[in-house]
Amino acid sequence: MNQDQLKQLVGEAARDEVLKLPAGQVLGIGTGSTANCFIDALAAYRSHFSGAVSSSNATTERLLKHGFQVLDPNDVNVLPVYVDGADEIDPAGHMIKGGGGALTREKIIASMAKQFICICDASKQVSVLGSFALPVEIIPLSRGIVAQELAKLGGTVSLRMAKVTRTDLDQTPSEPFVTDNGGWILDIAGLQITNPLALESQINQIAGVITVGLFAKEKANILLVSNAAGVSKVTF
Ligand code: 5RP
Repeated sequence: MNQDQLKQLVGEAARDEVLKLPAGQVLGIGTGSTANCFIDALAAYRSHFSGAVSSSNATTERLLKHGFQVLDPNDVNVLPVYVDGADEIDPAGHMIKGGGGALTREKIIASMAKQFICICDASKQVSVLGSFALPVEIIPLSRGIVAQELAKLGGTVSLRMAKVTRTDLDQTPSEPFVTDNGGWILDIAGLQITNPLALESQINQIAGVITVGLFAKEKANILLVSNAAGVSKVTF
């Protein structure tokens, strides 16, 4: 089974999991290729839910295309479940997220939800977080000072650039990747994150940081993980 098939498998398992909720609830929905598989699998059952809150413009577009009602988070009082992928997940359910750049809205929706269901294929499971570069969304004018502070953590800090293709230029233009919130992203490579809760709190203290893509306070409650043998469920 290739990685796309594994994502599809776990997307279907997440669909079966959320369909155990009573009808008429609102769902929180994440961003990325695994979350997309979940959305596609759930589309035929959208009437079971009164609506969804979305973690990105891309997810909103996909939900609307499938006919889901997308709600403003400010209008939602109870969110039983948030379903999203991860770039890495450790044995305690702490995650690195933000590979797709949607970390801030993902963390907001996750904080609203009673349960975070993480969905991924087994390649995302690690013993210690940090092989995947840790994304930090920042206010653009703070790039210099925040990069200096983040470098003190011991990793290599780089500004995430947009993937721009311009056929009218000899060179690919260098432009920062801009998030849905107008922020930029600094990626920290080469960390070994042995205390995710402490590091999340430390990075959150730096002026100019909007969100760090370390989900320790908002860690997963349930992990659905796929491999060639099928989907396993882990409860943290
Ligand atoms: C987006 C995210 C995604 O959940 C994460 O990048 C995993 O994506 P994919 O399912 O495509 O591997 O945090 O900001």
